[in-house]
Amino acid sequence: MKINFTEITAAKAKLDAVIVFLVGEDKKLSPLAAAINKQSGGVIAKALASGKFAGKRGQYAVIVPSDSVKCDRIILAGIGDVKELNAQAFENIGGGVIPHLNNLAAKSATFFLDELKGPVSAAEAAARIAHGADLRGYRFDKYHTKTPADEKPTIATINVALANTKSVAKHYAELEKLAAGIFLTRNLVSEPANIIYPETMAEECQKLEALGVEVEVLDEPDMYKLGFGALLGVGQGSANESKMVIMKWKGLGKASKTQPIAFVGKGVTFDTGGISIKPAGGMEEMKWDMGGAGTVVGLMKALAGRKAKVNVVGVAGLVENMPGGNAQRPGDVVTSYSGQTIEVINTDAEGRLVLADALWYTQKHFKPKFIIDLATLTGAIIVSLGSSRAGLFSNNDKLADQLFKTGQKVGEEVWRLPLADVYDKQINSDIADMLNSTNTREAGSITAAQFLQRFVNDTPWVHLDIAGMAWSKKDGDITPKGATAYGVRLLNELVKEYYEG
Ligand code: BES
Ligand code: MN
Ligand code: ZN
Repeated sequence: MKINFTEITAAKAKLDAVIVFLVGEDKKLSPLAAAINKQSGGVIAKALASGKFAGKRGQYAVIVPSDSVKCDRIILAGIGDVKELNAQAFENIGGGVIPHLNNLAAKSATFFLDELKGPVSAAEAAARIAHGADLRGYRFDKYHTKTPADEKPTIATINVALANTKSVAKHYAELEKLAAGIFLTRNLVSEPANIIYPETMAEECQKLEALGVEVEVLDEPDMYKLGFGALLGVGQGSANESKMVIMKWKGLGKASKTQPIAFVGKGVTFDTGGISIKPAGGMEEMKWDMGGAGTVVGLMKALAGRKAKVNVVGVAGLVENMPGGNAQRPGDVVTSYSGQTIEVINTDAEGRLVLADALWYTQKHFKPKFIIDLATLTGAIIVSLGSSRAGLFSNNDKLADQLFKTGQKVGEEVWRLPLADVYDKQINSDIADMLNSTNTREAGSITAAQFLQRFVNDTPWVHLDIAGMAWSKKDGDITPKGATAYGVRLLNELVKEYYEG
């Protein structure tokens, strides 16, 4: 999406083919809207008086003005109570208008913010509207070779006009870097598993070197030498070599010794379940079982892109979980990098095996301030929470609270579930230190988290189970259906608010 910011005065506004006005529940018109209303014989007032449009958030009305007005269409975008217009609300408005613009076959449109009194500065509001439009305008259509021109989305340029464009560019520059990270995550997660597998995903990570990120890729011999028995066991049935990628962003300077913060992602590029094979129906969805790692990569891109003043480590455990002559069997016992042994009673509980070695490696080598892991770990979390919030598990109340608050602020929410001894006991094994699964369906997301906790020592740690969040079957205001990149905005904001400087 091409984005422009322009200065206006109500008198000298240059109108685009489609213009958008924000209207609150008081239905008060901005000066420019009032002027156009007058010019066109009251067309806006008429639209406001008739029909259902009440200025509520999420409501839109499209107006065809008379020839006296030099624009083809006017869209009234409801914004609800002006006092509640936070940054997130502006993003949702910018994104929410996009499908309406496509329905009108508009190539460009201008939002007019000629009067705005809310809690957010006009400059930030303008930048957030543009950012929302940019995020909603995302498409993953590279494999469509035959879409007729009249079915393609048309909107390509968004202009935001406001009284004073002074600090808009600075606000937007940062959001543009965030968007680049989000788009990288969405691309990686959308790609099918014959295109993105551990090696190609590692190559995508290496491209971050251009931004100053140090990238190290461990291959199977490296991991064998280190003793990554848990991760390697998952990948051993696949023809594609497993990898682990370590990305370092030293925002406090190359020589800085400041303890980093760390993000670890589950990167199962395809999860068939292995020998404990999944049913055929819906198995194609398991191409996005690398969503946790995808979010970590996109987050690293966003942080490095905006030169965040923080030392960060991002780790992606990359494997393909396949059945095959060399695949691990239910009942196999593997020795993890930590030295702890695991009886693998279900080869479909593979994500935790990958994370076991990735987490242990991260806490041992970097002694980070905290570790946050992201994983499409359990179907059970979708049963518990659906697709409106990720499950959060933690050994640290402060970090858990920071994430909860940040989630509400950016609209990527989390909900905390418990960890406790009663659950931990359930993964004890008769033959090894632990089981990778239980024989019941009870508390499936919690027992998975208990397993992970055995690999973080005392490091402050949060596990986000994003199985219900990484992919969406429905459009959202700023997220077209498909890969959501859930977590990139959440963790970028967490870093910005609490850990930079
Ligand atoms: N990747 C799946 C979890 C998943 C399921 C993600 C549906 C997204 C949508 C994970 O590897 C898995 O198979 N988990 C099992 C664990 C069980 C065997 C203990 C599950 O949830 O059924
Ligand atoms: Mn699985
Ligand atoms: Zn999985």
